[in-house]
Amino acid sequence: MPRKNISHEKIAEHVQRLGELYPPIALDSVDRTIKRPDLVAARFGHVIDYLARVELEVDRNVLELLVLLPDVDDTNKIFYSDVWQPQEIQHGLILDRLQQDLGRQPAAPYLDVSFKIKILGALASLKPIQEVAKLLYFLTGASTERQAVLAYNQINTGLKELGETAISQTIITPIKQQEPGHFAFYQMSATAMIQDKVLKPWQLFFARVIRERSYNLVGTNAMPEYKADMGGVAVDLGIDQDLAGYAREIGRVESRLLWADRQGMEFPPYILEALRESVQMYQERLQRGLALS
Ligand SMILES: [Fe+2]
Ligand SMILES: [Fe+2]
Repeated sequence: MPRKNISHEKIAEHVQRLGELYPPIALDSVDRTIKRPDLVAARFGHVIDYLARVELEVDRNVLELLVLLPDVDDTNKIFYSDVWQPQEIQHGLILDRLQQDLGRQPAAPYLDVSFKIKILGALASLKPIQEVAKLLYFLTGASTERQAVLAYNQINTGLKELGETAISQTIITPIKQQEPGHFAFYQMSATAMIQDKVLKPWQLFFARVIRERSYNLVGTNAMPEYKADMGGVAVDLGIDQDLAGYAREIGRVESRLLWADRQGMEFPPYILEALRESVQMYQERLQRGLALS
């Protein structure tokens, strides 16, 4: 599929525009009126808990980036330090306060950089490995930001149906406006690497192998508890009704860039497997809970 070349200037301009258009959302810009907190908590409490934690984990994501990409360039530096981190941390703080307004526990973000990332980081002092890590970092960003866009869209629809105008208009809508720009940054950055042929065939092969073995849905941190939580989010948002359709949505960028030679692959199979695993783990947890009660 022919696409217009993505220049580094274009990505740099995009980052600058995001910074100008979307200052971090201030905590006191939020209208905290909730008409029926019990109902909102019952329908979306678990999803809001999950998103609050994941947004607050942005500080770990920045540490991971510094471990994986020690030679990060100016555009990436400006993106994570001036645009992305300041925006995401506000998403986290606002959602964390919302979940407490709903009578739920404060978020407990997981902030330790994993052993696997540290190993890959040690290897990333070698330039060819760092190039692989960079592509995987961008693909992860594209997939997770897409998941954020979809989740906020679905919550917003649900909140409007419940007539919760204040939270919809002053929390979810402003957050939701900032996510597509993050997605576009990662999508353009990954596309530019492939289009510029930064990676040699062996590096691309290596990238596919690692991706297949380490793909994680947003916020699961490769940990069973979080995977089961994510399964709960998928059920609450109705994603479980069409897991393949959702896999297609969140896997589109990497299907195109990493698996272009696999004719007819609608989405990378490991994405659907991760979704199925999460939903199954959630259902097993529910059954365990029922068995105990
Ligand atoms: Fe966010
Ligand atoms: Fe984001």
